[in-house]
Formats: sequence, structure tokens, C-alpha cells
Amino acid sequence: MTRRDFVRLGAGAVAAGAAVKTTLLGAQVKAAETVTGTAKAKGPTVRFVSIGTGIRGCDLLRAARMVPNGVCVGSADLYSMHQRAGKEAYGAEFPAGRDYRALLDRKDVDAVIVAVPDHQHKRVVLDCVAAGKDVYCEKPMSHNVDDGLAMVEAVVASRRIFQAGSQRVSNIVYKKAQEIYASGRLGEVHLIEGHSDRNSPSGAWVYPIPPRATLETIDWDGFLKDAPHHAFDPVRFFRWRCFADYGEGVAGDLFVHLLSGIQCVTGINAIPSRAYSTGSLTHFNDGRDFPDLLATLYDYPGMTVSVHCNQNNEAGEPIVFYGSEATMVINGNSLTVTPQDTTPKPEGYSLNGWTAATKQQYLDEWHKEHPAPPVKLGEVENYVASAGYSDTTDHIANFFHAIETREHVVEDEVFGNNTAIACHMANHSYSKRNVAIWDEATKTIKG
Ligand SMILES: NC(=O)c1ccc[n+]([C@@H]2O[C@H](COP(=O)([O-])OP(=O)(O)OC[C@H]3O[C@@H](n4cnc5c(N)ncnc54)[C@H](O)[C@@H]3O)[C@@H](O)[C@H]2O)c1
Repeated sequence: MTRRDFVRLGAGAVAAGAAVKTTLLGAQVKAAETVTGTAKAKGPTVRFVSIGTGIRGCDLLRAARMVPNGVCVGSADLYSMHQRAGKEAYGAEFPAGRDYRALLDRKDVDAVIVAVPDHQHKRVVLDCVAAGKDVYCEKPMSHNVDDGLAMVEAVVASRRIFQAGSQRVSNIVYKKAQEIYASGRLGEVHLIEGHSDRNSPSGAWVYPIPPRATLETIDWDGFLKDAPHHAFDPVRFFRWRCFADYGEGVAGDLFVHLLSGIQCVTGINAIPSRAYSTGSLTHFNDGRDFPDLLATLYDYPGMTVSVHCNQNNEAGEPIVFYGSEATMVINGNSLTVTPQDTTPKPEGYSLNGWTAATKQQYLDEWHKEHPAPPVKLGEVENYVASAGYSDTTDHIANFFHAIETREHVVEDEVFGNNTAIACHMANHSYSKRNVAIWDEATKTIKG
């Protein structure tokens, strides 16, 4: 690996001069194929349909076609071009219509992949589990606290498999980080920081409106379901993340990835007790309902977590775990563990106020008490996922595997709901200009 490769892979946090060991992590989906046994030989056993084949729905179909034990047998979308795009993404023909309920009536369908805007997650998921289907639902799991609680209840009552769609939870790099964290090698960790920063109109969801996006090609009433009435507005349809009727701004779109990654690595699968947010809406002040800079401090059990999203600077998406023995940084598909130098050293700074003779006496005594030569600092470890690695493919593979085996998924409804509530707390604090407190007794956000 050349130095340029190394820097490109995001290992910039490595201490100068330290030895570095780089390990390439294999694509986990290979393991998933093995786990699912002779999937290829016996053919796909999971017959699924896709509801919502826009940006993410198409990406999910592209990923799903890499997982041999599933086959897409239908789709639904409210916009005709997205119906065609879904089939193109999957590279196969299947019936594609507007009404998802017709798909749920089909007895030959086992599972559903849901990638509709957030305000429709609850209704679609409730309909899916009521029809006896297992569900993969995109992140953030819920549009608000009540929606999430209703979804958890419905999934549990129906005994269906539910996978929330934060793919980092299946990421091979996060699995490595989880192993390192659990081993205790980082020492005591009390602070985790993460951010998700972008500096482009696309990064702030100012997506182009496609040609011929009209009431002829879009089922606007279908889109508005569960949201207040509004005259047809393609900006709302394609940039729905900007509007509180349908999305949750940077918290629901981006914090959720940071927080699910943190939950996955630390095993802290809980709702934070408090959240405090600050931020502003400046650069993309285009009529949207949410800030383009949001910074939130959370109190998780035994952990302070600080996250921010800034749509005014491209600073990437690292998550940093600060331990007393080592610092661990996850950056995209790369992970670096840099040991802290904790070898005992004689005091330096405070001796500046001592006389030369007293200083010398202290140093002589210190060296007498510490005769052993200083321990050499451990090497920096860098783990990198192999080129072309897709955690979305692994996440879907995990879902299909659970459907076949009825084993637990990696990101169930409780996990998904916990991260979603943390996102709602961030927005609550920002809009109320107050500390948001999770009240477990009433299962509401106070403050
Ligand atoms: N995991 C990730 O990395 C990731 C990335 C992007 C988006 N997402 C999530 O995926 C979901 C979809 O986002 P997107 O970017 O694809 O949005 P999008 O606007 O591109 O696509 C949403 C699609 O859902 C369709 N739709 C809406 N209501 C429907 C209904 N009742 N029945 C059938 N189709 C319906 C719309 O017509 C549209 O084509 C959101 O929850 C979003 O947060 C996740």
C-alpha cells in the first residue's frame, strides 16, 4: 500500500512516526452467501417486493440483486419514472404499479423492502406486518415518537421479522470496531464524537426536479397520506427531507447513521436521557423547515455523545471513540486504532516553577523509582474494507438470512426505534431551545 493509498483510505489520524499495520477486511456478503448455504443451487427462497423505488429504493434493489437467496417479484411507487427505474436498477422484469396494497394481498410474497419518505413508514410497515410479511424499513425508522412506538408494538404483536435500514450496523468495519471496543483495548471510553458534513446543494437535498414531473405522472394524494393537505408541489415531492410534514431534516437523515453506528459499536442500545441542540439555518435558507447546521450533545448511559451535521463544509463523516488507552476512528469503510502513550513520565510542566536543584532532586528520585526502560508504543492498526464493499448488500443479506432461519436480525425494531427517538430529541431541543429529556414513564420527550 502506497502512502497516497493510505491517506486516501482515511488514515490521517495516525500518529507521526508510529508503526502502522493495515489489514484488508473481506466482503462480508461472501460469508452471508455461505451462511445461506446452497442458495445459488436451490434458487432464491425469499420472494420480496419493493415499496418506494426512488433514490434509496433503487440503491436497495441494486444491492439486493447481489444477494442470491432473494428475488424481487414486484414493486410499487407513486411516480411512473421511479417504477421504471426500479426495474432498471434490479436488472429484471417484475410487475410495478402505484398501489402497494395489491402487493401485500399476494400470497407468494414473503417480505417487503420499504423505502418511502419517513412520514409514510408507520402506515406502510403496519400494513405489511398485518398482511403477514417480514419487513426491511429504511432509516430513520419513524417520523415521530408515536409512530415508532406504534411500529414496535405492531411488529412484536405480529411476530414478523423487522430490519431497520441503517446499513452501518452490518458494515464489516463496524463489526471490527465492535470487536475492538468489546475487548477493552481502548481503555475507558466516556466520549464519542461524530459528524456528517457536506458542502453541496445535493448534500443539502436540493435535488433536481426531473422533466415531466406532473400530476399525470405522480400520485400526489398518495404522497400526502398521513400529512397535511398541500397543493401539488414537486419541490415537496422530491426534496421532502427539507419539510417537517415528511422528514426530520439533518437529524433524521444523517444523525441516524452516526447514532446507529455508535449503538452498534458500543452495544449501548438505549434512548439517551437528555439531548441539547444548537445550530442555524443560513446557507440553504430556501424555505425549508430545518437548520443546515445542527450540533447535539447527548447523555447516553455512561457515555457523552456529541454529533453534528454541517451542510456548509465538506468534512466527511468520521466517528471518534476517545479511550484512555487508544483512540479509534471510523471513517467511511476504514478504521484506525491509535494507541495513547500512557507510559509513566517524570513531571515536566509544573517543574518550571522549581529551582534547578529541587528539580534535579525530583528527577533523580523519579528515575530511581522507574528503573525499567519505557515500553515501546504499540503499532497503529488500520482496517480497510475491500474495494467495492457494500454494507447495504450485507444488511439485506442479513435480513434475507433471518427470514430463512427466523433468527434475529442485526437491527431490529427496538434498535431502530431507539436511534430514531434520539433524532427526534435533537430536533425537539433545537426547536424548543431547551434541553430535551426522555421520559420513560410516559414515553414522551419533555422539555
Ligand atoms: N440508508 C440510507 O443510506 C438511505 C439513503 C437515502 C434514503 N434513505 C431513506 O429511504 C427512504 C426513501 O428515501 P429516498 O431518498 O429514496 O426518497 P425518494 O423521494 O427518492 O423516493 C421515495 C419514493 O417513495 C415513493 N412513495 C411515497 N409514498 C409511497 C407509497 N405510499 N407507495 C409507494 N411508493 C411511495 C415515491 O413515489 C418516491 O419515488 C427514506 O426513509 C430515507 O430516509 C436511506
